[in-house]
Amino acid sequence: MADRFVTNTLNRADTEFDVSLRPSKFADFVGQGKVRERLQLFVDAARGRGDVLDHVLLFGPPGLGKTTLAYIIAEAMGVNVKSTSGPVITKAGELAGLLTNLEKGDILFIDEIHRLPKAVEEYLYSAMEDYVLDIVIDQGPNARSVRLNLPKFTLVGATTRSGLLSAPLRSRFGLANRLDYYTPAELMQIVQRSARIVNVDVDESGANEIARRSRGTPRIANNLLRWVRDYAQVKAGNKITKDVADKALSMLDIDEDGLDEMDKRILETILHKFSGGPVGVSSLAVSVGEEAGTIEEVYEPYLIQEGYLKRTPQGRVATELCFKKFGLKPKAPQGELF
Ligand SMILES: Nc1ncnc2c1ncn2[C@@H]1O[C@H](COP(=O)(O)OP(=O)(O)O)[C@@H](O)[C@H]1O
Ligand SMILES: [Mg+2]
Repeated sequence: MADRFVTNTLNRADTEFDVSLRPSKFADFVGQGKVRERLQLFVDAARGRGDVLDHVLLFGPPGLGKTTLAYIIAEAMGVNVKSTSGPVITKAGELAGLLTNLEKGDILFIDEIHRLPKAVEEYLYSAMEDYVLDIVIDQGPNARSVRLNLPKFTLVGATTRSGLLSAPLRSRFGLANRLDYYTPAELMQIVQRSARIVNVDVDESGANEIARRSRGTPRIANNLLRWVRDYAQVKAGNKITKDVADKALSMLDIDEDGLDEMDKRILETILHKFSGGPVGVSSLAVSVGEEAGTIEEVYEPYLIQEGYLKRTPQGRVATELCFKKFGLKPKAPQGELF
C-alpha cells in the first residue's frame, strides 16, 4: 500500500540522512534531560575511576535516539563501538567472535536485543557478569567446554520492546533508561539544528509546523524536514514557511495532529469496528494487521500520551477526543451506577 510505504519509510532506521544529522556529543543531544544527565554522570564516574563503563540498556519507541546515545556514550568514553543486532547473531560462536575482538573498554552495541536467540542470550549472561564465555566444542562423547576470557567491555543494548526482555538479561544492566517522546519545542530545536546542517532555509513557523507533526519523534522530524525541503525546492522558492510545510505534509497524508496512517487505522478500527471499545489488544491487532506487541509498544504509547486512547482492564477505549477527531459523537458513559 503506497501510504503505508510512505509512513513506514519516515521512521526507517539509519538512512544516510539520519547519520549525517546524528549528534555526536551529549551537548548536542536535545531533550531527554534526565536520561542524558544520568548517562553523563555514569560516564564521568567511570572515567574518573579509570574504569570500564557498566552495561547500559536503552529502551523506547523507534526513532527517539537509542542508537545516537550509544555512539555519544562511546565518544564520551573515548572507546570504539562494534555494532550488531539481535536477529543477526544466530549462534554462540558468532557472539564469541564479536566479543573476543573487542579491546578493553570497547562498546558492543546490540540493537533489537530482545530478538537475540535464547541460546545466544544465555551465553551473554556470563560474558556480561564475569567477562568469560564457556563455549562447548565438539559433540557427543568428545564434547567439552572451553573457557574464553574476554576483555572487560561495555554492552549497550537497545530495544523497542522492553516487555520482551527476560528478567535475567535485564538485571545484568547497570543502568536502564527509558526514552520518551519529545515535546514540540524540543523537536523544533532538532528541526532547526538539522536545517542548519543541511543548509535549508526554514523560518520559525515552518520549523514549528514540522515539529508539531512529527509524532514526538526526532527521526520523523528529520525525515519530514527532508520531504518539506524537496517540496519547497520544487514549489516554493526554497523557503520553508508554515504554509509550505503544511502543504508538503498534507501531500504525505500526515494529518493536522501529526498522526500517520497506522495511528489513524488503529483509532478508526476501535471507533467503527468496536464501537469505541473496550477491545482487547489481540483482537485489535488482528483487525489492523499488525503484531499486538508492536501496537502496545510502538503505536499506543503516543496515542495514549496524546489523549486519544485509554488502557482499561477491559481493553482499549477511544476517548472523547478521539471521537471528536473523527467527527463522531462521543458515546454516552456506560455502566455509571450513580
Ligand atoms: N535528542 C536528539 N537530538 C537531536 N537529534 C536526535 C535526537 N535523537 C535522535 N535524533 C535524530 O534522530 C535520528 C534517529 O535516532 P536514532 O538514535 O537512530 O533512534 P533509535 O535508535 O532510537 O531508533 C538520529 O539519526 C538523529 O539524527
Ligand atoms: Mg536505532
